[in-house]
Amino acid sequence: MAAYHAVTWEENKLRLIDQRALPGELIYVTYRDYEDVADAIRSMVVRGAPAIGITAAYGMALAAQQSDATDVDALQKDLRNAADVLNAARPTAVNLSWALARIVRRVSDPQIETVDGLKAVVLDEARAIQAFEERSNEQIGQNALSLVPEGAVFVHHCNTGPLATGGIGTALGVIITAHQAGKNVHAYVDETRPRLQGGRLTAWELQQWGVPHTVIADGAAAHVMRTVGVDLCVVGCDRVAANGDTANKIGTYSLALAAHAHDVPFYVVGPTSTIDMAVASGDEIEIESRPASEVSHALSCRITPEGSPVANPAFDITPARYITGIITEQGIAYPPYEESLAALMADAEE
Ligand code: MRU
Repeated sequence: MAAYHAVTWEENKLRLIDQRALPGELIYVTYRDYEDVADAIRSMVVRGAPAIGITAAYGMALAAQQSDATDVDALQKDLRNAADVLNAARPTAVNLSWALARIVRRVSDPQIETVDGLKAVVLDEARAIQAFEERSNEQIGQNALSLVPEGAVFVHHCNTGPLATGGIGTALGVIITAHQAGKNVHAYVDETRPRLQGGRLTAWELQQWGVPHTVIADGAAAHVMRTVGVDLCVVGCDRVAANGDTANKIGTYSLALAAHAHDVPFYVVGPTSTIDMAVASGDEIEIESRPASEVSHALSCRITPEGSPVANPAFDITPARYITGIITEQGIAYPPYEESLAALMADAEE
């Protein structure tokens, strides 16, 4: 496993890596208050769909600790309020609401009779969610191995490694696992404007794991496909609709179109906790709009003229027809996704 841990629960506190400081500094921040945890998710101290789900789950454990409720009903009410606060932090990644719903469901169990018992259940469920994501990452890496040829050249978008998932990673986990299995792989890393999760975080993670890589500007990916040759693109996901349409970091859709034009297989990689069967298609997925300053400035330096309007959609939807396959811990789904995802989800663990 990694020598760094994005999300850790220790001594009744939550510890996060401040991902905004990487790659310059590896800083850990400790949280005791669930409202501060909601802020950490909103301001992207922690980011990546599975990691924010795990973080929110431990945020609920903090909310349970903070509550001065003296009976089970009052504590359940406090926890439902905390879940609402945490859930409002970011809208697109379904892992956030998935993790919170799991905890709210467990704490609503009428058999829980004491306040202490209820608090223990919250922490137990948060730990189970973290363990699920770690296990899923391992299995995803194994499931993908047969798709990765010896000498594979990848393009990867955003950051989907241990920082984003708590485990070995999803799309980046596919690359790291193939490298660890002895395959001679090379990853082209999209820098991923505006927040540079690729250039800052993915390149840093690939250094930690010793995986050969090259950072490119987002707009260079099609050129690399045409001139170098790319075997496969792997990207993560924030919410996959029942028809396979996928919300992921802005720029994923452009990469999928470039891959389609160059006959490069394009794989979405994620745990089943990121598949939202309640959403029929990508049209129903809310796309987070983030502050204009993320686009008008790069690393605190203004790069657009004062007064020029800026739009900052943080995610886009890649239509299912551009997706070769969706790699999960339950197996790989192929089109038609309505059928294959439904079959995978029927087997998925809760
Ligand atoms: O805005 P971010 O950095 O949270 O966006 C992250 C992504 O889009 C990832 O690709 C996705 O969450 C999958 S992480 C395994």
